[in-house]
Amino acid sequence: MEIIKNPEELQKRALEIRAQGKTIALVPTMGYFHNGHLSLMQTARPKADVLICSLFVNPTQFGPNEDLESYPHDLDRDAALAEKNGVDILFAPDPAKMYHENHSTWVSVPDLTQNLCGASRPIHFRGVATVVTKLFMLAQPNVAVFGQKDWQQLAMIKRMVRDLDIPIDIVSQPIVREESGLALSSRNVYLKEDELAQAPNIRKGLLRLKQQVDDGIVDCEVLKENLKEFYNSEIPLGTIDYIEIVHPDDITPLKKINGPALCAVAVKLISARLIDNILV
Ligand code: PAF
Repeated sequence: MEIIKNPEELQKRALEIRAQGKTIALVPTMGYFHNGHLSLMQTARPKADVLICSLFVNPTQFGPNEDLESYPHDLDRDAALAEKNGVDILFAPDPAKMYHENHSTWVSVPDLTQNLCGASRPIHFRGVATVVTKLFMLAQPNVAVFGQKDWQQLAMIKRMVRDLDIPIDIVSQPIVREESGLALSSRNVYLKEDELAQAPNIRKGLLRLKQQVDDGIVDCEVLKENLKEFYNSEIPLGTIDYIEIVHPDDITPLKKINGPALCAVAVKLISARLIDNILV
């Protein structure tokens, strides 16, 4: 496996690969790999001749009081895991090489990014859309694979690709979970024992909500209120950031469930803010 740190070098390599008639799959990540990332690589591997994985903790998607400085990283460990999972090129650039000092061009998809995580992380999605666009231009992929845990991010990227006629297939991969049901996240390493004991209740609450829908409750206010009560009693260390029921494609809030719906939640524990979702 090759490790490339320079964006220009990656783009040159990618253009050469494409000129040879070969296809490229891209898995964009911020590193500190867990089985969720590895499942993205495994899904991407058979989809193209060359698999590129990017590992970049993108500063422009972190707000001023977020965990940019403490975000976990271990390049040697990640490189070994990437190689084992079929990655051909690991792209791990320095932030100073990714953004010019006077960078001033932003990509934003306002319609899909005002609510859910966009409400509490105002600059987050603009940073994600911009860096993903840059990664697409650098890696020149035919296909890119994203996880469904960040559902709003995935919906935004699909819309961006559609709106800007970007010739890349966006493939998504289901959430990978601990046995307890807790969705895998690089940020889970921040959690202390008592938080880890309560965090799986995020998923339990979502499954409970799905059961209520299956039992015929379709009023979203009632469903959200029931989930709020469950979290308040079963996750006493947590503060609910949001509980929303939205259309899975355009992320607009729903009043009643009479078609595809996504319940998305964010809960702030003491050491980390966790997100999860379920299709109902
Ligand atoms: O989902 C992530 O890890 C990041 O938001 C992404 C897509 C790699 C962009 O920095």
